[in-house]
Amino acid sequence: MNRTLLIIKPDATERNMIGYIINRLEKARFKIVAMKTYHLTEKEARKFYAVHEGKPFLDSLVKFMISGMVVPMVVEKEKAVSELRVLVGATDPQKAACGTIRYEIGVDIEKNSVHASDSDENALKEIAFFFEGH
Ligand code: CMP
Repeated sequence: MNRTLLIIKPDATERNMIGYIINRLEKARFKIVAMKTYHLTEKEARKFYAVHEGKPFLDSLVKFMISGMVVPMVVEKEKAVSELRVLVGATDPQKAACGTIRYEIGVDIEKNSVHASDSDENALKEIAFFFEGH
């Protein structure tokens, strides 16, 4: 078993999609081992997305991520990182495979409803960001 981080983004919490996303995770046999509601500050959102420093979409992304409530959660499954990325789908909902969460409920490339860690290393860092002394 290993663990990864999923964040339900403000576009999804705003549309009352928390239950839908939890249901998709549980149906795909992920165990939710930690979860909370959270409202990011601008400083925190910039820190979380520091890898995207200099990208043209960063300012808009930060504004979006602080626009409402997010739900970070730690989920567990064998090969959690890759399995979750399959369930979540491509960044751009228009390009996401049929049946993925972003295909089903993503609005656009920014408001894509969920974030999933992209490697085991980043999963550890991102879990610590939300769940360890933060
Ligand atoms: P996420 O998986 O959280 O990682 C970075 C986020 O930036 C991405 O999902 C989108 O919400 C947002 N984003 C906006 N535009 C782009 C883009 N052109 N490429 C990648 N990510 C983008």
